Amino acid sequence: MVYTEKDKQYKRYTITSALPYANGPVHIGHLAGVYVPADVYARYLRAQGEEVVYIGGSDEHGVPITIKARKEGCTPQDIVDRYHKIIKDSFAKLGISFDIYSRTSSPLHHETAAAFFKKLYDEGRFVEKVSMQYYDEEAQQFLADRYITGTCPRCGNEHAYGDQCEACGTSLAPTDLINPKSALSGSKPVLKETKHWFLPLDQDEGWLREWILEGHKSDWKTNVYGQCKSWIDAGLQPRAVTRDLDWGVKVPLPDTDGKVLYVWFDAPIGYISFTRELFGDDWEKWWKSDDSKLVHFIGKDNIVFHCIIFPSMLHADGSYILPANVPANEFLNLEGDKISTSRNWAVWLHE
Ligand code: 2FM
Ligand code: ZN
Repeated sequence: MVYTEKDKQYKRYTITSALPYANGPVHIGHLAGVYVPADVYARYLRAQGEEVVYIGGSDEHGVPITIKARKEGCTPQDIVDRYHKIIKDSFAKLGISFDIYSRTSSPLHHETAAAFFKKLYDEGRFVEKVSMQYYDEEAQQFLADRYITGTCPRCGNEHAYGDQCEACGTSLAPTDLINPKSALSGSKPVLKETKHWFLPLDQDEGWLREWILEGHKSDWKTNVYGQCKSWIDAGLQPRAVTRDLDWGVKVPLPDTDGKVLYVWFDAPIGYISFTRELFGDDWEKWWKSDDSKLVHFIGKDNIVFHCIIFPSMLHADGSYILPANVPANEFLNLEGDKISTSRNWAVWLHE
């Protein structure tokens, strides 16, 4: 018999909402889609006398933050310090009832994320692969996809990025670009060997199918369930969990200078490290006890990370519970426009 959610009784609730990137303010679309629903859920449960923790914080790593810093002639730390404060203040003024609102640049987060990686590494859970990647010899660094520009092989746009052409919408690999150029120095990048660690998601299909497609057929939202099904049916591929970048959680292995954990590996671990920050030694029951209900509130772009990749990380560790539900919202629409992009509704919450 398949065990379904409704059979379960919970003693406590671990509620998270997606960590906003600290490279811009939050807007009303985020608020309506993610933070207010999570806040209502947390308040409702507290009012029922339930034991609840509601975790939030800023996602302070990743390439876009480094690009913004470079453009503004400051450090990535300056960027995240500025926006973390703005975002945190907006949430406080709006009364979102986080029990903690922390940040992924904190030392405790770095320690927690590095230890999470190291345990999986020591247990042989990753696959190591050497591949060829573009390297800027003048700037002496590997180039993230967004740092490489060139001509789109599909439409001829000369300003396409290494991951996507914004003129025709095609997703690209950096090696697809004609006349690739480094956005750091303007020079022509060369291909050079680099080593990375991959989470072998291809080995997770069996239990993911049973857990999501059979176990959560009737209680996950249809958009969430449908996306999970199409990802699983298409066949999951190993995912790199490290990057060549100098901003993020350092890879905790010898001879890995200039390598950090991929932002989507470290950010969800933020939910765990912020729980540790809040409760000290008493954090584990929120994440490792079967009578705790874990619920992630997210936007729809984050479905695969919260329903497939993060659960696969938790499952590989073996000591964590998995999310009982992952409510994901579609964008709010207003007069046919996405509220997040509509000019009439450019409502940034700090204004
Ligand atoms: O899409 C985003 O805005 C991401 N910063 C969400 C991260 S959620 C979690 F994994 F931290
Ligand atoms: Zn194009």
